[in-house]
Amino acid sequence: MSLNIPDVKKTVMCRGERFRLYLDKETIQRRVEELGREISRAYEGKRPILIGVLNGAFIFLADLMRAIDIDCEVDFLKLSSYGAQKISSGVVHELKKIDAPIEGRHVIVVEDIVDTGLSMRFIIEKMREYRPASVRTATLLHKYEATRVDVELDYVGFRIENLFVIGYGLDYGQLGRNLPEIYILDED
Ligand code: IMP
Repeated sequence: MSLNIPDVKKTVMCRGERFRLYLDKETIQRRVEELGREISRAYEGKRPILIGVLNGAFIFLADLMRAIDIDCEVDFLKLSSYGAQKISSGVVHELKKIDAPIEGRHVIVVEDIVDTGLSMRFIIEKMREYRPASVRTATLLHKYEATRVDVELDYVGFRIENLFVIGYGLDYGQLGRNLPEIYILDED
């Protein structure tokens, strides 16, 4: 017997705009677990500190940290956000500094998404001022066609289209972060 599953495109509305399902829960989870394993192998015996970038990275960071099976620590910093815009202002400010001393530590900066790359470049430069032993970067998503600056990304979950996304921590004007999947702006 063959199942007749209709080709329904799952969509959600956020702030009056339509977004379509792009990455489902299982796909995200599988990739996050792979990244966790990769980080565990690379940092064996080193006790890295994950620096999460608020607000967007909190869900990815929580899952990534639980996929790492070596000793690791966590702290957070916060940058200015897009506000309710979908386009980066290109200006980055630090709103909350990290508390943990990171001199001599192995730092992994954890972002939800790298778009222009300006935020990640700003954070790497800030981290280097504290003289850590090493700085690497992890991002769940990379809008590679939008990236304008040279920034080294060590652990990338998914390279994605240059369209606005929400869900799994990512917001549109503070909404949409609680969606368990990732949705992309539906231009149709
Ligand atoms: P960048 O500095 O342009 O690389 O932007 C980085 C930050 O912008 C991310 O940490 C997100 O907070 C936000 N951002 C970029 N693209 C998106 C998106 O498609 N959806 C939601 N937030 C985004």
